[in-house]
Amino acid sequence: MREVHVISHPLVQHKLTLMRKKDTSTSSFRKLLHEISMLLAYEVTRDLPLANERIETPLAAMNAPLIDGKKIVLISILRAGNGILDGMLNILPSARVGHIGLYRDEKTLEPVEYYFRVPQEMNDRDTIIVDPMLATGNSAVAAVAKIKKTLPRSIKFVCLLSAPEGIKTFHEAHPDIPIFTAAVDEHLNEKGYIVPGLGDAGDRMFGTR
Ligand code: URA
Repeated sequence: MREVHVISHPLVQHKLTLMRKKDTSTSSFRKLLHEISMLLAYEVTRDLPLANERIETPLAAMNAPLIDGKKIVLISILRAGNGILDGMLNILPSARVGHIGLYRDEKTLEPVEYYFRVPQEMNDRDTIIVDPMLATGNSAVAAVAKIKKTLPRSIKFVCLLSAPEGIKTFHEAHPDIPIFTAAVDEHLNEKGYIVPGLGDAGDRMFGTR
């Protein structure tokens, strides 16, 4: 319960530092995000159950392991989640994909859903929800609540950076869902940005600033 896995692998930490630098270009930022996302996918899938299948190599028959169960579902919280999604699909090419679109109501500051599309048969699937920044945690909390209703076998939440405030909010709502993150930063500023952070992840990956 209330698991936070910080992915301290040197390759992840090195790439994250390059992404944080304010002078890193859009194309480098996007490339690094893809690379780091593959490494995060490797870590987050490390406990997937395996089942043996009888196969034949050119030399002999053998029992060999394959990932058990239905295809994994990667769920991107729009829009910045798409950067992580693209990277993860490089090493999980058969994964199914869902999208959740949320915006923040300016009066209530609560997340409001504007888009939700996931594969039809979600029950018994392992799901991985992705969003680069766990800042206030409100979008992540809403996304997990929505996915829980589809009754998947498991849910994991993956982000690049997280703020202590976001982790607290997330785990108060969903203590049963593990968080995988490359770093836990110092704090959120008054505008809801992670400090020191890397700025606006969506703007940096899409060049929209
Ligand atoms: N979203 C971002 O893109 N960056 C932050 O620092 C916080 C939320």
